[in-house]
Amino acid sequence: MNIDVILKEMTLEEKASLCSGKDSWHTKPVERLDIPEIMVSDGPHGLRKVKDESAAMNQAIDAVCFPTACATACSFDRELVANMGKALGQACKAEKVAVLLGPGCNIKRSPLCGRNFEYFSEDPYLSSQIAASHIQGVQSMGIGTSLKHFACNNQETRRMTCTANMDERTFFEIYAAAFEGAVKQGKPYTVMCSYNRINNVYSSENKFLLTDVLRDKWGFDGLVMSDWGAVNDRTEGIKAGLDLEMPSSHGVNDKKIVESVKNGTLDEKLLDKAARNVLNLVNKAENGLCSDVQWDMQAQHKLARTIAAECAVLLKNDSALLPLDTSKSIAFIGDFAKNPRYQGGGSSHINSFKVTSALEAVKEYCEVEYAQGYDSNTDVSDEKLINEAVECAKKCEVAVVFAGLTDLYESEGFDRKHMAMPANQLELIDKVCEVCSNVVVVLHNGSPVEMPFKNKVKSILEMYLGGQAVGGATCDLLFGKVNPSGKLAETFPERLSDNPSFISFPGEKDDVQYREGIFVGYRYYDFKQIEPLFPFGHGLSYTTFEYSDIKLSSNAVNADDELTVSVKVKNTGKIEGKEVVQLYVTDKEASVIRPVKELKGFEKVSLKPGETKNVMFKLNKRAFAFYCEAAHDWLVEEGDFTISVGSSSRDIRLTDEVFVSSKDRIPVKYTVNSPLGDIAADPNSTKVFGNMFEEISRGMRQAQPEDSMGAATEMMTNAMIREMPIRAVLSFSGEAFMTYDELGMKIDELNRINNY
Ligand code: GLC
Repeated sequence: MNIDVILKEMTLEEKASLCSGKDSWHTKPVERLDIPEIMVSDGPHGLRKVKDESAAMNQAIDAVCFPTACATACSFDRELVANMGKALGQACKAEKVAVLLGPGCNIKRSPLCGRNFEYFSEDPYLSSQIAASHIQGVQSMGIGTSLKHFACNNQETRRMTCTANMDERTFFEIYAAAFEGAVKQGKPYTVMCSYNRINNVYSSENKFLLTDVLRDKWGFDGLVMSDWGAVNDRTEGIKAGLDLEMPSSHGVNDKKIVESVKNGTLDEKLLDKAARNVLNLVNKAENGLCSDVQWDMQAQHKLARTIAAECAVLLKNDSALLPLDTSKSIAFIGDFAKNPRYQGGGSSHINSFKVTSALEAVKEYCEVEYAQGYDSNTDVSDEKLINEAVECAKKCEVAVVFAGLTDLYESEGFDRKHMAMPANQLELIDKVCEVCSNVVVVLHNGSPVEMPFKNKVKSILEMYLGGQAVGGATCDLLFGKVNPSGKLAETFPERLSDNPSFISFPGEKDDVQYREGIFVGYRYYDFKQIEPLFPFGHGLSYTTFEYSDIKLSSNAVNADDELTVSVKVKNTGKIEGKEVVQLYVTDKEASVIRPVKELKGFEKVSLKPGETKNVMFKLNKRAFAFYCEAAHDWLVEEGDFTISVGSSSRDIRLTDEVFVSSKDRIPVKYTVNSPLGDIAADPNSTKVFGNMFEEISRGMRQAQPEDSMGAATEMMTNAMIREMPIRAVLSFSGEAFMTYDELGMKIDELNRINNY
């Protein structure tokens, strides 16, 4: 397809028609010019291709449901996620779906967001790395992805009308950063804009978001589509960089585009850009779908089981109760053992061709007793079910209780009201703990829960929503066929009120103020020194690991040079295991408020008993930088930084220091109201003011009576001099040092020298 030629051939109406869907899942064809339609489908952790392809939401074809994002992020394994992406791409290719709508990489601002199961992390670096791997995997099969929901879609409450309001640094350092790395490294074919407004402008018509940042700053050259029904003003959307409205608006907005071009309110060149992006996508799709592949669902079911096991997080394992000994008498208790909750509700809901429950999979290992314990369709305890479960636990040496959140608690479309698990499950766990001293809790939940039972049970295994084969993965972990290696991609706070968004989530009607700023997740808990239930990056293993010999390529680098960090990790246990080595960076002397530490690297390494490996990290400038609003860019402030490596954000094993030299300066435009100390500290001030400040300080000290110059007075005088607006010096001294006009000229000269 020669797009330039086609664009020249197209009529205004044909170009406009390309900018909205044909129905819920297809772009529009242009028969006259042999431009085909292409199909898009959800995502993100399975293929939800509806049987009636023009219908919005109806029965989807049989497919494979892989672990959801809340689980896959915990793998901290780029290769594993890419392999899952490849399998998803295979499914799409077989079903002639050109774009898989996902991954979602919105930041988990609150544990209450109903769609957290579809998102990766509270940390932007981890989110962007896992999203990029997902994208690379799917697109390696010639199938496109749609990185979503760009941006700041961090709640379901009033998602189509609310405005996420935040400062520029928070936007770039947290909420946009999750997308930035995914766009730059993953190079998604498409990006899906979010429903919400950002600082009062709809994402679907937000030029700053869709053009200035996404395309101009980050170099994105793909297509931007709307979330389904997210378009507010279609003409404004074209101007902002929204190429494709989904789903179809039945010609209404096509006409609007034509009229806008005709009446001169829309530059046709902007329409051409959008049409070109649609044609580029169609072109890529034609190339990607040309070859046929077989979709081996059974093989993918096995892969889903492997992935789910790699994602699981062993939160607690007292007395090494796990892995279980099959010679012991074991009870599996809880409806989720038989009917696992393995995915979330809404557009990502997959019609799984097969589900493996733990109760079914455990037959591969041993016989177990089973009791339902609770009804997943209600919170109300059923005394009969509980009594049966207690009797079942009494007979056994080990009780494994399967619990978590039901579909009534979290989904696309609504948020949670609290972090508690269903009351009937909590009562069940308590009652089982009364009769059995070896209790394991297996959790199926898409987001953090409070765990009042934490100190009553010996082991807690977080499976999250681990896909259709989660039951098999759970048994593989419980009986030690697989050694757990997942790490939490989000903090589990002890209580909801510890969470930084507690006051402002989900906002006041449509007004959502991100008052916590950059202090999201562990950035907040670390700074406030709040003890979480389980910290970001936490996850146990059936073996142990020892860290040694941290080495930096240098302990003094220039910000523009790459810093290499290496550390040795040894498996000091008796079985093979994988460790996620995490690297955090601390700016020890920042002039701005910065988090205590930030994740800037992670590597997952597999080690045999007694084996040692050298784990390497390469850090570039961004690892040390913060986003400076005055410069509208990322800056590194010269000074000392700490490099920390560890097994979790709260289990730092080794540290080292590095001095980073940098020419970056926070731009300051001085005025007569700038504090004297700020101007005196400017490296260029002596070029303009000579030693005037020393004279001023000397003069003001001499003005103090001798005997009054105790330490306290000295401190007071110094502070007052330092923080006095420079204009006050003139008024106190009667323009002794210079006139106001001279001061103004010197201030202008200093700003000029600083290129401000
Ligand atoms: C939804 C979701 C989006 C999904 C789309 C199509 O409302 O927000 O993630 O891809 O519609 O189903």
